[in-house]
Amino acid sequence: MFVCMCYGITDKQIKAAVQSEGVGNVRELKQMMALGSQCGKCVQMAQDIIDDTIMDESLFKDVG
Ligand code: FES
Repeated sequence: MFVCMCYGITDKQIKAAVQSEGVGNVRELKQMMALGSQCGKCVQMAQDIIDDTIMDESLFKDVG
């Protein structure tokens, strides 16, 4: 699914950034990709995906 239409950035790319680079918020994400620097409409959705990914990871760790 595309999150950022302006730069063609997908939810998968955002999740990968959280999981492999430890990105925790949109500001950190922006340092890695151009997301949000054109129209900014994607910023809220990107933050939601970051939050969900962190949540999933911590649930997974609790189980393990
Ligand atoms: S959709 Fe991401 S900057 Fe426009």
